[in-house]
Amino acid sequence: MCGIFGYIGQANDAAQKVFNGLLDIEYRGYDSWGVAYWKMDNVGWKIEKRVGFLPSSFKFPASNISIGHTRWATHGGVTVTNAHPHLSCDGKLALVHNGIVENYLELKKELKSHKLKSETDTEIIIHLIEDRFKNNSLKHAVAEIFNKMAGLSAIVVSDGREIVACKRGSPLVLGKTKSGFVIASDPNAILPLTNKLIFLEDGQLVVLNKELKLYEVKDLNEIQAEFTNIDWKYTQGTKGQFPHFMLKEIYEQPQVLYNQIQSLDSVEKIIKELKNAFGTYFLGCGSASYTCFLGEYAFSKIAKKHVNFSIGSEFNYTEDFLTDKSLLIAVSQSGETIDVVEPVNLAKKKGTKVVALTNTLGSTLYRMADIKHLLNAGPEKAVASTKAVIAMVANLLLYAYGFAGKLEEGIKVIENSAKEIEEIIKKQGEIKKLADKIYQAQHTFVLGRGLSYPVALEAALKIKETSYIHAEGFASGELKHGCIALIDKGTPVILFVPEDETRPAVLANAMEVKARGAYVVGVGVEKAPSFDYFFKVKDVGASSVLPHIVFAQLLGYFLAVKKRLNPDKPRNLAKSVTVK
Ligand code: AGP
Repeated sequence: MCGIFGYIGQANDAAQKVFNGLLDIEYRGYDSWGVAYWKMDNVGWKIEKRVGFLPSSFKFPASNISIGHTRWATHGGVTVTNAHPHLSCDGKLALVHNGIVENYLELKKELKSHKLKSETDTEIIIHLIEDRFKNNSLKHAVAEIFNKMAGLSAIVVSDGREIVACKRGSPLVLGKTKSGFVIASDPNAILPLTNKLIFLEDGQLVVLNKELKLYEVKDLNEIQAEFTNIDWKYTQGTKGQFPHFMLKEIYEQPQVLYNQIQSLDSVEKIIKELKNAFGTYFLGCGSASYTCFLGEYAFSKIAKKHVNFSIGSEFNYTEDFLTDKSLLIAVSQSGETIDVVEPVNLAKKKGTKVVALTNTLGSTLYRMADIKHLLNAGPEKAVASTKAVIAMVANLLLYAYGFAGKLEEGIKVIENSAKEIEEIIKKQGEIKKLADKIYQAQHTFVLGRGLSYPVALEAALKIKETSYIHAEGFASGELKHGCIALIDKGTPVILFVPEDETRPAVLANAMEVKARGAYVVGVGVEKAPSFDYFFKVKDVGASSVLPHIVFAQLLGYFLAVKKRLNPDKPRNLAKSVTVK
């Protein structure tokens, strides 16, 4: 979370470059933004800070050194004062930070003579560095303080003559341009300026002035710095004729599915690994965690193989049984989610083989993994994940079919589900009508059994994050064990009823909620008497989960639009979650 972008060099549009870079990394946090730049006439730092989204353009005066930030608030509210960059008391040093200083209260005790302006943990760091900088180089001052900071952070500090940066956990990438150096949280944001990159590793410190020098932050021993020419294309998502990225990305899903079955090299490689592994674990967060959970069901049903699923943030507490024979399949759109990256780090220390199923080339997870499977879903800009989720589910199904020796069947069902998604997109007006009917609901419940249980969880998440309606996903058999107490007259209850072994029991659950006054929404092959609203989805076998997820995405989208909310940037969220 939080985006960092910096530039130092001969070009005199440093702040402009930084602002343009921030536009590319705004997905990392959009509570507020700020740019500090050092004016050419050397009068010190000038700062622009604002609350809210970045404007599409902003005009800056000439400058040749600048650092900028987009914030996802952790410590301190969303205010201009709390926005980064933060300055030292004497105004000489500027700093941007991504992460959390876990021991900031303890560090704060040192700051007797400083006047703190913000409520952030970040501001403490710049004042501590300011004290050390009086008798030291900036490099020494930054290293000393960074070594005292607990938790995962990346910081970029400048005195207007050079930039010093270091990281632990949060990503930082360096680029060498014709006129100078850039530093950013995401390689994609650097690619318009250069493809000569260095990925800063944890525990490294970089000094950028006329040259670049790399050090170990713990002892400041110098390390050889080598740029690699990266052959990646800059991906700039544009909305085209669509009103929102989310809708555009929903429309792209049939093609994303066709892409998955065109090249199966990675799928085949991973099936081999699955066959050799003693203990397989699927790991992800949020929507990716639901795809992993669905993977567990799919492996049981299709491959008759047990795999273990865990939420990323809980895995550290249960991974004691990992060995060098285990296989860990880490699933993440961004490849930067710290709750995935951290357990992967620990698993690697145990010698466990790691597969990254990710949409982001060059991401931390991508670089850490032994086997890399790129989703190739194209840039996903809306914070609510749609096409990446669909690609994840498709690949987990393909792994399961492949493991069972039925890859051809897997390809066929994915193809059929892509066709059915095309039909659902054509029928989106029906889903819009449902949104118009239920948008004022305070609570909704989403139910499913078997493969449809993780679908219910994902559907509820989509509704929550886009429309702010309280939505709960349940295993539909579990509802009567307590949660049915929440069903009231008119409460929308959405049930996924595919043509599989779960149908009779889910229909019974539909009757139970109907009897308590619920407004019953059925999604599946055939209308039942208990349904107040029915959305038909053709049976496409196990991959019926894919069109069902698309139904929920469109419902979430239309609910947001009806409530005049921005589905692309829901409140309080960020696309890349890099803090614990
Ligand atoms: C999905 O709509 C969410 N915005 C969120 O749950 C997301 O799936 C989660 O944060 C994991 O992200 P990742 O796939 O980038 O790891």
